[in-house]
Amino acid sequence: MKIGLYPGSFDPFTSGHLDILLRASHMFDRLYAAVLINISKQPFFTADERILQIEAAAASLNLKNITVGSFSGLLINYAKEINAGFIVRGLRAMTDFEYEIQIDAMNRKLAPEIETVYLMAKPEYSFLSSSVVKEVGYFGGSIEGLVPEVNKNLIAERLIRR
Ligand code: PNS
Repeated sequence: MKIGLYPGSFDPFTSGHLDILLRASHMFDRLYAAVLINISKQPFFTADERILQIEAAAASLNLKNITVGSFSGLLINYAKEINAGFIVRGLRAMTDFEYEIQIDAMNRKLAPEIETVYLMAKPEYSFLSSSVVKEVGYFGGSIEGLVPEVNKNLIAERLIRR
């Protein structure tokens, strides 16, 4: 069974993330989406909120082979725990490339048997990030199209400056 792992902060889970999840779901028998629980970084959305966002988005596209979870510590340890042979990452601009080279080099050193595959973001999502969604939503701008439709209202309601 071919198992993939799509990790990230997903704070929040964007339309660009969903596009990668959808495309990667066709590549594996089972695809785990895993939310990073990073004790040194305070996310806006709780891990449970982010997990629910991914589950709702996957269900909205009727994706059947997705399991959503969370992990802390080293990614490759989680990959081994769930028997994933592949890590999936999305790539947008050159800045992502620089960042991903570093992560790839470290993960490869720690676990050479686990391969990372990169999916290019669709052009319409190439400048979309969780940070942009948070900023637009905080100042009351429309996040239509930036996050999966099924999560839009909940995310907008949480982000809006009070
Ligand atoms: O969506 P992000 O924030 O770019 O995802 C980054 C992530 C979660 C893939 C990366 O930070 C990670 O794997 N963190 C876990 C710690 C780890 O394994 N570090 C070693 C590789 S640098």
